[in-house]
Amino acid sequence: MSFTVAIDGPAAAGKGTIARALADHFGFAYLDTGLLYRAVGRKVLDADQPLTDTVFALKMAQGLHESDLLRDDLRNMETATAASAVAAMGDVRKALVSFQKSFAKRDGGAVLDGRDIGTVICPDADVKLFVTASEDVRAERRYKELSAKGDDTSFDAVLSALKARDAQDAKRDVAPMVQADDAVLIDTSNMSIADALAAAVDVVNKTYKSA
Ligand code: CDP
Repeated sequence: MSFTVAIDGPAAAGKGTIARALADHFGFAYLDTGLLYRAVGRKVLDADQPLTDTVFALKMAQGLHESDLLRDDLRNMETATAASAVAAMGDVRKALVSFQKSFAKRDGGAVLDGRDIGTVICPDADVKLFVTASEDVRAERRYKELSAKGDDTSFDAVLSALKARDAQDAKRDVAPMVQADDAVLIDTSNMSIADALAAAVDVVNKTYKSA
């Protein structure tokens, strides 16, 4: 039986942490859809192609392999910015739809996180969450994450890259980041990871128990 949990929200809101923990808790599979766009963006950067080259980015999206998602250079700021650029391309998004949709429908349940999961990829998801936090809190979390990995950056640089990416993701024509009408909002600004997970588990349990 399939059971789909769709999680959307802005950059560094804690979607991934909640999604992974929810998947563990319920024994569901987990897909970080941001990695798909990050991997395409990374390939465009590696090839020294402009981030406006839709034809090249589409070719990269069509040729994406699961092993491309395992690279260790997908989480840095340069790749995130490139991801947001290619994610604004309708053809690139289209090329990645069927993989995401079939992942969502797999037997045994699935959690997907991204920007358009509850609106475009899985409009009929069993549970939809929109996870957010204040800009400062999100930038602080991402700054700590990047610094811990040895990335030489500043809080201000992280904050301004995050603001630019959110603006681009929210304003694009195709599949913009927006809270689905039927999504439950979880603001993690003042929540510990355990609190956020507990809130998410509560929401899922309401539907899962009766499924
Ligand atoms: O981890 P973080 O929230 O910073 O970003 P991510 O989820 O890895 O996504 C990276 C970028 O991919 C986003 O800024 C979006 O532009 C794009 N993305 C998207 O357009 N649609 C998705 N379903 C997932 C990510």
